[in-house]
Amino acid sequence: VESTFDYVVKDIELADFGRKEIEIAEKEMPGLIATREKYGKQKPLKGARVMGSLHMTIQTAVLIETLVELGADVRWASCNVFSTQDHAAAAIAARGIPVFAYKGESLEEYWDYTRRALTWPDGEGPDLIIDDGGDASLLMHRGYYAEEDPSTLDEPTDNKEMKLQNELLKGMLKETPDFWHKAAKRCQGVSEETTTGVHRLYQMKESGELLFPAINVNDSVTKSKFDNVYGCRESLVDAIKRATDVMVAGKMAMVCGFGDVGKGSAETLASHKARVAVSEIDPICALQAYMRGYSVMTVEDALPYADIYVTTTGNKDIITAEHMSKMKDQAIVCNIGHFDNEIQVDELNNWPGVKKTNIKFGVDQYTFEDGHSIYLLAEGRLVNLGCATGHPSFVMSNSFTNQVLATIDHWTNEKPIDVYRLSKKLDEEVARLHLDKLGAKMTVMSEEQADYIGFPVEGPYKSDHYRY
Ligand code: NAI
Repeated sequence: VESTFDYVVKDIELADFGRKEIEIAEKEMPGLIATREKYGKQKPLKGARVMGSLHMTIQTAVLIETLVELGADVRWASCNVFSTQDHAAAAIAARGIPVFAYKGESLEEYWDYTRRALTWPDGEGPDLIIDDGGDASLLMHRGYYAEEDPSTLDEPTDNKEMKLQNELLKGMLKETPDFWHKAAKRCQGVSEETTTGVHRLYQMKESGELLFPAINVNDSVTKSKFDNVYGCRESLVDAIKRATDVMVAGKMAMVCGFGDVGKGSAETLASHKARVAVSEIDPICALQAYMRGYSVMTVEDALPYADIYVTTTGNKDIITAEHMSKMKDQAIVCNIGHFDNEIQVDELNNWPGVKKTNIKFGVDQYTFEDGHSIYLLAEGRLVNLGCATGHPSFVMSNSFTNQVLATIDHWTNEKPIDVYRLSKKLDEEVARLHLDKLGAKMTVMSEEQADYIGFPVEGPYKSDHYRY
């Protein structure tokens, strides 16, 4: 048996700095701290092996240490090659928690770190997974089905990440032939952080491929209606400014997609006095954009005017290389959706006559044959984590308190394979934990009022179809 303690971080010397910032973050993460206080003695995750595939930031370090405090045995990898904060990873490693992540890791390393975080020293997998975007679940499922039919790994693909996964899984089939079957059997559940990962889970459930129960954390109200909206409202312009220092006022910004992330992104750009236009496929979201004072147009129609483009759709090929070839000189292009395929980066790199100049980490200038240039941020990967430090601690405390509650739920309640959500009662509880910190004084209904509107005095206060 190899040592239980292994890690890959950029520089372990950064641990002290990481620890100081973790201590500041703790003050802003009341939900996680309250969870520690409530469950710390009871240790409801005692004996549970928890694997995380989620941006290795300072806020995530507070999540990890909460899981450990509740008794879990944790291993961690980041869910994006650019999103790790190296001092946060160092502080976690210095505490003896296996973590495999550094800012700027290669895709090859990324998939290998995911594998390593999924593999415990005794050669077995996790009991529980905390996923963000679904890459850990994807590897588990692809591995499992490849063990059933190795030819799935030979199917031709242009996708470079699929190719890397195929190579990694082929190696594993040789060296540890039934790892994934044993891992899938052992795994009691995954809790998924983000919209894109949740889509993948529902797709696997529909096709009958899902191998273990899942909790959709994203669609807790205290997650998607807070992190996705108000998190992006603070971290998007932060990232654009750290990357470019550009004046936002007076510019025209094109926000592609007006879901939760799009709404927060448009609001921050508008509050910096950009003129904001939105592109949408959904008429309800398009109408919402008008009600908030934005116009709706296609990317094609915006090309002569827009200075800043932000993709927020969770869909692919939103900004094409052809679009970029026709943008205004000095246009800034970035993505805040989960995956980099919202912008055609490979096609841009191969565009005839284009010249790429790296300005600094996360900022590349592309100059076209006609002389105009555009700036691509974070190579098309999620810009708030690639060019800045992601969302603030307070909003992440809401998201991560949901994650901890989901993880406890998986470990303590065995359930049939399906995709679940946390109860409204728990959702309201997460909000309450954060209100106390803000000094809110809540109104308490009388019994008569409760009878009149038909909800209990102690909640839940809304029906499931209420949209907030
Ligand atoms: P959502 O489903 O609420 O919004 C996406 C919107 O894009 C929808 O309204 C949809 O109609 C629209 N859309 C789809 N295809 C389009 C197209 N071709 N053109 C224009 N609009 C189109 O999803 P949400 O929660 O806003 O998440 C969006 C993405 O952001 C996901 O990938 C999610 O995982 C990610 N995310 C990133 C965060 C970050 O910190 N960077 C935080 C939270 C979510």
